[in-house]
Amino acid sequence: STCRHGTAYSVIESHYSEILTETTYFVPLEQKFEYWRLKITNESQRRRELSIFSFCEFTNQWDTFQDRVNLQYSLFIVRGELTGENLLRIAIQDNLTPDTGGDFISDIARHCWMGMAEAPIDGFDTSREAFLGLYRGYHNPLVVESGRSTNSKAYGDNACGSLATSGSLQPGETREILILLGIGDAHTVGKRTFAEFGSLEQADAELEKLKTHWHAQLESLRVDTPDADLNHTINVWGLYNCLVNFAWSRSASLVYNGERDGLGFRDSVQDILGVAAAIPEPARERLELMLTGQLSNGGAMPIVRPFEHNPGHEEAPHPDEYRSDDCLWFFNALPAYVNETGDLDFYNKMLPYADRGEATVFDHLRRALDFNLERSGVNGLPCGLSADWNDTLRLGYHGESLFVAFQLRLGLATYAEIAERLGKPGQKSWALAEQKKLDASIQACAWDGEWFIWAIGEDGTVYGTQDSEEGQVYLNTQVWSVISEAATADQSARCMRTVHERLATPYGLMLCAPPVIKTSIDVMRAVVFNPGIKENAGIFNHTQGWGVMAACMLGDGDRAYEYYRASMPAAYNDRAELRQIEPYVQGQTTYSTYSPRGGNSRTSWLTGAAAWSYFSATQYILGIKPEVDGLRIDPCIPSSWNSFSAVRRFRNQSFHITVHNPHGVCKGVVRMLIDGEQAAGNLVPAGLPGKEHQVDVWLGP
Ligand code: GLC
Repeated sequence: STCRHGTAYSVIESHYSEILTETTYFVPLEQKFEYWRLKITNESQRRRELSIFSFCEFTNQWDTFQDRVNLQYSLFIVRGELTGENLLRIAIQDNLTPDTGGDFISDIARHCWMGMAEAPIDGFDTSREAFLGLYRGYHNPLVVESGRSTNSKAYGDNACGSLATSGSLQPGETREILILLGIGDAHTVGKRTFAEFGSLEQADAELEKLKTHWHAQLESLRVDTPDADLNHTINVWGLYNCLVNFAWSRSASLVYNGERDGLGFRDSVQDILGVAAAIPEPARERLELMLTGQLSNGGAMPIVRPFEHNPGHEEAPHPDEYRSDDCLWFFNALPAYVNETGDLDFYNKMLPYADRGEATVFDHLRRALDFNLERSGVNGLPCGLSADWNDTLRLGYHGESLFVAFQLRLGLATYAEIAERLGKPGQKSWALAEQKKLDASIQACAWDGEWFIWAIGEDGTVYGTQDSEEGQVYLNTQVWSVISEAATADQSARCMRTVHERLATPYGLMLCAPPVIKTSIDVMRAVVFNPGIKENAGIFNHTQGWGVMAACMLGDGDRAYEYYRASMPAAYNDRAELRQIEPYVQGQTTYSTYSPRGGNSRTSWLTGAAAWSYFSATQYILGIKPEVDGLRIDPCIPSSWNSFSAVRRFRNQSFHITVHNPHGVCKGVVRMLIDGEQAAGNLVPAGLPGKEHQVDVWLGP
């Protein structure tokens, strides 16, 4: 068998006993049913008689928690039958759920239906036990083995959906059958949907529509570099991962079972970085939602529940619940949107705070800075509060987070730039003055000689120093010292050297080293994890993009590329058994060399790794960076690349960019032509007349 995933569809192909089957699975756009399109070919030299069964096991209880804790109850509420229209009808709490004709009944009781098109129905089953048979399983279902459906009607216990057909195929002959499986009452929703969508022509049209929809989003950037793995990561899978992440946040996947129905604040704000170029409008809507999850004191609701969120009326969290980093991610995400669209006026938009009052987006930003400045510790660094980015860190309420100090520094610098743009010199000088004070505090307590410390506990303990036995070097404070430009040139070079010597593994950069084992759980909850995974000296993939960005900011394209490839899923395609998870998506964490299983990755799909990896590769390695005034082209590539090209959609124009690297350098634009004309510097100005433009860039010493 071969399984191929495309953009929102999957195809499974199997050869068995000279019968070839190919099934395409997808959910059409805006619909609440899925297609299974089955193509069967007789590859043998003789006529074949075939029986074909569809099968699906349904959940009885749609409430995921109840489904787990109250199985007995759910076994009394389901019924199944074949309707007069030849659709399977699976009904939950049928006495209580009058058919409204709509597809939503209630959160715990939704009906399902299944239909078969392009073939006559020979039989059906809706009882799982009847389909599988006693003492049997999915490996030997009785109905398939005997070749006959039992026409079972589920009445309690576990339901299933199986429709059967049969027929003969001549040598070489192909037949196609369509199964539709949807949510809603078969009598109304099912009937209506089947009538409209139950044909091969319609299925064709719907698949085309789906592909066009996804491909249009993926067309925001297409690259062609000497690295084929990087190309399809940027062109398809990396961005697709970001878009899926944006849609689902951390709510439902194979590893999140669906009870986390809210948008985690920090994660959702960071997700914007992955999608701002592809879907700027939805990105803005999400940003607005998250801005209204900010409280009037500048902190954030830990979770924003999109369906219940009531800006202006939310209850503020208990003071112990604030995380220190949440709103500081706006300083990455808001410029990402504004730079993409040029929509500077967004900063003037009035938006409510979660609890009370409203302010412009610019003022929301000011409040965010004030929140951390007002909650600073004895050394002048922001307090870590209930957590900084690292969920396992408990420094005590007044303990200080150097990571957040660097975030705050970047926030102040970004705020000063925005203030300048908006003509608010007072705000600009305020921010720069605060930044200066913060810099002095950082320099006074945070440098340890070869690297920056990790953090300072409430009791004054300094973590992450040469004297620390465990957690001696912490990745985030090194890379963010560079990203925030708080580090001096000498400190940058030294701490990134330390990162390379102490944290780099073939699978990515470890979050800290050595792992914590004896450290108190009251300070570092990471001790719960086996050494070498997650926050305990694992490779936390969310942070890998920061390593790439820091290396690029120091001009080291070879190192940036090395770090990027170490955590790029596609780089493991020929060693899939090592990484173990899906080879086309990011995982949250990878076992490091401190564990016996270095290289195994875990927790795929919904992770901040998707956004930062895409952002760092496109804006730092390839260096195609939107700014308010245009597209900055400033690559930092491996010296072995002679050239690369890219097509970037930017504000409704297409830029065909070719970067030439005749001298084998990593960085440094020495010449740029726009449509054959010499340009000053490396900014392609926004708003040039015409839809398509050719940009040629030369790197050189
Ligand atoms: C998980 C969380 C994220 C946090 C990270 C590090 O990925 O979703 O919010 O920053 O862990 O602890």
